Amino acid sequence: MSRILHLSDVHFGAVDDRLVAPLIDLAHRLKPDLCVISGDLTQRARPGQFRAARAFVDRLPAPALIVPGNHDMPLRNLPLRLLAPFAAYRRAFGPKLEPLAHLSDAVVQGVNTANPFAWKSGLLRRRSLQRLTDSFAAAPPGLWRMVVMHHAPVPAADGTAADIADPVAVLAALAQAGADIVLSGHTHMPHTGFAETAAGVLFLQVGTAISTRRKTDSNDVALVTLEPGKVTVESWLASPGQPGLTPGPSQSYTRPGTAWQKLTKSERPQPTH
Ligand SMILES: [Fe+2]
Repeated sequence: MSRILHLSDVHFGAVDDRLVAPLIDLAHRLKPDLCVISGDLTQRARPGQFRAARAFVDRLPAPALIVPGNHDMPLRNLPLRLLAPFAAYRRAFGPKLEPLAHLSDAVVQGVNTANPFAWKSGLLRRRSLQRLTDSFAAAPPGLWRMVVMHHAPVPAADGTAADIADPVAVLAALAQAGADIVLSGHTHMPHTGFAETAAGVLFLQVGTAISTRRKTDSNDVALVTLEPGKVTVESWLASPGQPGLTPGPSQSYTRPGTAWQKLTKSERPQPTH
């Protein structure tokens, strides 16, 4: 049984400083096996913001798997954005933009969807898909196959369309590669579900962990617990004016056939909608 703490869109440069210590404290109490940050470590990809993000990551209690988001590329320095968009990111977090992590029951592949040629939308590159396919093909059967990518190919919680090039093709490619679970951010709105065309892939999105750029009433993170045949997502929420993070909704999912289903509290599968 592995526990993954999923954070996203921390946006150093636009952080609510009161949330940092409580989140670090919560992370230590939850004792995850892996911490995931699904992009937008910084607000404007400035060196000082990356240094702050790196210092934050160094305080987490478990290894961190991190991928870039659209905010992690220079915005106004066009030559740098086009010629070396991830130079500052790499200085902070190392050369790999698409890291791989192994847990006892999962293989977790990071995918870089940040696109310097687009304003903020993402893309799944052919070489990224190949890396994903190869990692999953090499993993022993029975392991959960998980993807971490900043931009999800499914709509946001409020119905806003997926902000990635050709989401229908991306959905099909993820399913074809054998993905079971995809962890994403970008929308600043927590959301869980799956697409009818890829019902075997569970999409888990969290909002912004500690940024002031909230699009909902709360900042949030999620603890994802993997068990044989079952995944549980527990939200933790930080509401303005309240100290610390408090437990939010918790939901388990199972996939008895080819499609994910919600489990009710009595653990009996119910069709999702
Ligand atoms: Fe963001």
